[in-house]
Amino acid sequence: MSFDKKDLISINDLTKSDIYYFIETAEEFKKISLKDIKKVPTLRGKTIVNLFYEPSTRTRSSFEIAQKRLSADSLNITISQSSVTKGESLKDTILNLESMKPDAFIVRHHESGASYFISKITKASTINAGDGMNEHPTQCLLDIMTIMEEKRNIGSLKVAIIGDIYHSRVARSDIYGLSKLGAEIYLYGPYSLLPRLKDFKDRRNVKIACSMEEAVKNADVIIMLRIQKERASYYFIPSIEEYRNFFKLTPGLLSLASKDVMVLHPGPVNRDDEIAGSIINENKTRILKQVENGVAVRMACLYILLGVKKQ
Ligand code: CP
Repeated sequence: MSFDKKDLISINDLTKSDIYYFIETAEEFKKISLKDIKKVPTLRGKTIVNLFYEPSTRTRSSFEIAQKRLSADSLNITISQSSVTKGESLKDTILNLESMKPDAFIVRHHESGASYFISKITKASTINAGDGMNEHPTQCLLDIMTIMEEKRNIGSLKVAIIGDIYHSRVARSDIYGLSKLGAEIYLYGPYSLLPRLKDFKDRRNVKIACSMEEAVKNADVIIMLRIQKERASYYFIPSIEEYRNFFKLTPGLLSLASKDVMVLHPGPVNRDDEIAGSIINENKTRILKQVENGVAVRMACLYILLGVKKQ
């Protein structure tokens, strides 16, 4: 199995077998993180630029740890201390960094399409670490990996995705990836924060639920999303109190799901807004497993894009 593309911009860039290839590779790399010496020489001599125009805890640190575990050299650009603050454009920033011969750019940006744009103006590989409201393909891969650790056949699952779906790049990538693998997907949230179903017109297994109860009933996986305050979601709902009353995952709602239900959340979590704190405190979620798998998935992505193809 091989993957010939230079970049990972959208989960739609991957076929079903590509997705399984990335997950199987991540499962192998996960073993490295469990050793005493968590380092292999796989990407020795490769230079990777981490370019985060938006804040990040999980994605940024897991990419950085993945690079260190693969022996790559990392350059972390702090946007607030870069010449972006003097008005340098995205294009000029990339062209100038490109002159230093990096092998990859890992990009998080507030504008949808920024990673795609970068991939077209650089010879280096580009990995989308989240672009605006568009996509977050490595989050989708780590979500699939986490689900597959407990439920091997994604095609037989009911997955509920609940919350601010309209602004969520995680939801978009998860809907594309999980529906490609055959899961039946139920979306639910405030009407003003739901996507239009025609956005997923070629995905017959994506539905809009009419209530929280319908979304979670017999669900095998529940993916909760936060209200994205930074994308003005508060203008789309009457109040956070109203949101909590109608869209928060409570223990009572959770009891309607399958008895082996997995609750996921990409983070950061706003406890007691979208999910009852008790569900997290009582270890009824796989949130930290998702973060753990994020390192393995990002190692796999770097290896597949930079390592395999050049051997
Ligand atoms: N899941 C996720 O993208 O988290 P961060 O914003 O902390 O990277």
